[in-house]
Amino acid sequence: MDLLQEIERRRTFAIISHPDAGKTTLTEKLLLFGGAIHVAGAVKSNKIRKTATSDFMEIERQRGISVATSVMGFEYKGYKINILDTPGHEDFAEDTYRTLTAVDSVIIVIDSAKGVESQTRKLMNVCRMRNTPVLVFMNKLDRPGLDPYELLDNVEKELNIDVIPLSWPVSNGPTFKGVYNLYEEKLDLFDPVDKQRVQETTEIRDLDDPRMEHYLGDFARKLKEDLAFIKEVFPPFDVKKYLAGQTAPVFFGSALNNFGVRELLDCFLDIAPYPRSFEASERIVVPSEKTFSGFVFKIHANMDPNHRDRIAFVRVVSGRFMRNVNYHHVRQNRDMKFSSPTAFMANKKSVIDEAWPGDVVGLHDTGNFKIGDTLTEGEKLHFKGIPSFSPELFRYIENADPLKYKQLATGIEQLMDEGVAQLFTLQSNGRKVIGTVGALQFEVIQYRLLHEYGASCRYEPLQVYKACWFVSDNSKQLEDFKLRKSQYLAWDKEHRDVYLAESAYALEMAKEKFPDIRFYFTSEF
Ligand code: G4P
Repeated sequence: MDLLQEIERRRTFAIISHPDAGKTTLTEKLLLFGGAIHVAGAVKSNKIRKTATSDFMEIERQRGISVATSVMGFEYKGYKINILDTPGHEDFAEDTYRTLTAVDSVIIVIDSAKGVESQTRKLMNVCRMRNTPVLVFMNKLDRPGLDPYELLDNVEKELNIDVIPLSWPVSNGPTFKGVYNLYEEKLDLFDPVDKQRVQETTEIRDLDDPRMEHYLGDFARKLKEDLAFIKEVFPPFDVKKYLAGQTAPVFFGSALNNFGVRELLDCFLDIAPYPRSFEASERIVVPSEKTFSGFVFKIHANMDPNHRDRIAFVRVVSGRFMRNVNYHHVRQNRDMKFSSPTAFMANKKSVIDEAWPGDVVGLHDTGNFKIGDTLTEGEKLHFKGIPSFSPELFRYIENADPLKYKQLATGIEQLMDEGVAQLFTLQSNGRKVIGTVGALQFEVIQYRLLHEYGASCRYEPLQVYKACWFVSDNSKQLEDFKLRKSQYLAWDKEHRDVYLAESAYALEMAKEKFPDIRFYFTSEF
């Protein structure tokens, strides 16, 4: 197969949801279709249970498990599917943000009893930054849930995107009868038998089929009315709008019962985008270019202090990646080759000889990589679109063991390269500030500094609302602002100016007072 064919048959995406909506269950069912696993339960949930903070080692252990399922590649109907896993725990949301930079589209799972929840809203904002195409799976129809019209309305409002149903449920909960597939124009009847297996469903293609009444009873009339209404209210599905991130097609089903999942997958493969182009600072890189390029979007460290090795996950952007071939590490300006690049199939890891655009390669790393690094065949490219997001929590980090100053500095630097948290240095006095998305990371950092680097740290409280990157063409205002806010200014790791806004109010005031300055909650805009 040539490069173009390899590109066109690839679908690289992430499944995102609020914890408990059914992401793990859906992932597992998709893997069952692909034959990547044979029984349900083979995918370890990467869901990190809510535990007391003293139990964070358990959390890291669970997180360790998830490395095996970081990328799940499998073949199905001639397609190569790459599902990029995202952490279930909200405290690791930044991992998820970064993973979203490496996918071409997203499936959002929503619990039909709950509608859109907070985490989904946040993740959707990240998708919107790049107009990532999203498709929605309304899950748990076998349970009593919200009315489907209400759910569509909820998604449209909460996620701020036009929706279009491509399937329609017949009731829910104990009276759940099935789903009408608007994409293929057929009715699938729900028959909850063996939940462990890929299940064949009864299909009815003609709405006037007498079996409609037989199977659906009174719901048959309701379904016909609903379908007539949908035709009237919603425009025909336009795949271009989906690909532009303007419309989200919606499917209904039950992941646990493997119902509506095959329809979702088949339609998804049909409409979802194949590997896209990526923007580098220098130029746009197209996947069909002959020469290889890729970037690191995730680094996973081994928690074992005796093996302080890491895996750097590289998304292939263009060309063919090959084992044992020299590639250029742009930031370090040197060539490196990799003797055991790995790919991930369900919960197995294997050494591969080649990879194509859309694939993710795991590279064994002894500390050479940081997030955002680019590999090429020599060209100096710097991929964009891997921004830092403003953390939610901030604390001063102080050295607690004067003899271990160097170890602490090295430890902090390496942990930040991995993307565990963000480091800011106050411009006024040089004090270091750690920013995280969740409280858990503070514990993780302290533990890892001690066990992997022999360094001790302590934290001191600091009241910051958000980290804001800012720019302006008005140098006078910029100067004034910097002078007035000097005690709240910091540098991020790339030495960019950041305003650590003390409160939402202070930020609003700053915006009002300095109208020519633009403030951003991400480092790329
Ligand atoms: P997550 O990865 O999004 O956090 O969710 P996960 O798949 O782990 O699912 C959360 C819970 O919801 C699980 O139950 C799962 O079995 C259940 N679930 C998923 N899909 C459906 C569905 O279509 N219908 C129903 N009724 N339940 C569903 P649990 O009790 O937390 O875990 P388990 O003990 O069943 O594994």
